[in-house]
Amino acid sequence: MTDYKLLGSQAEALLRDEPDGLASAANFVALLYNALDDVNWLGLYVLRGDELVLGPFQGQPACVHIAMGKGVCGTAAATLETQRVPDVHAFPGHIVCDAASRSEIVVPLVIDGDLVGVLDIDSPSPDRFSPEDQAGLEQVCALFCGLRSGRGFL
Ligand code: SME
Repeated sequence: MTDYKLLGSQAEALLRDEPDGLASAANFVALLYNALDDVNWLGLYVLRGDELVLGPFQGQPACVHIAMGKGVCGTAAATLETQRVPDVHAFPGHIVCDAASRSEIVVPLVIDGDLVGVLDIDSPSPDRFSPEDQAGLEQVCALFCGLRSGRGFL
């Protein structure tokens, strides 16, 4: 089980004094990817107009454009609710990027009251993400969004 409290402290130390949005997002993704086990893809999709566009990530090259409401990412963005998907094949409209992915979690990112994008994490194992992972990841994302308050995202 990931130590999300420790991860939060590490994220805060790494990002607290960094004004640049791109550098912060890239380091946030790298920190999470290396802290979580059994993950094959982890990255950000950025809200650009009315679609999500691929941002900093770790893993295989991925699909670049996702429409609001489409796939797991677009559903999280449209509903503003974390999508925790134990079996991606059972999720209607799931968008395949890495065929190795079996389970997925997507957390909406909201800065200063505005949706700015989502954090997307894929695992090659079914049911990889527990309710505790969801709570921990939501906390770490809230911390990241808080650190970007007044500074913008990407
Ligand atoms: N599976 C996602 C697409 C993004 S990739 O997993 C990196 C979805 O259904 O939105």
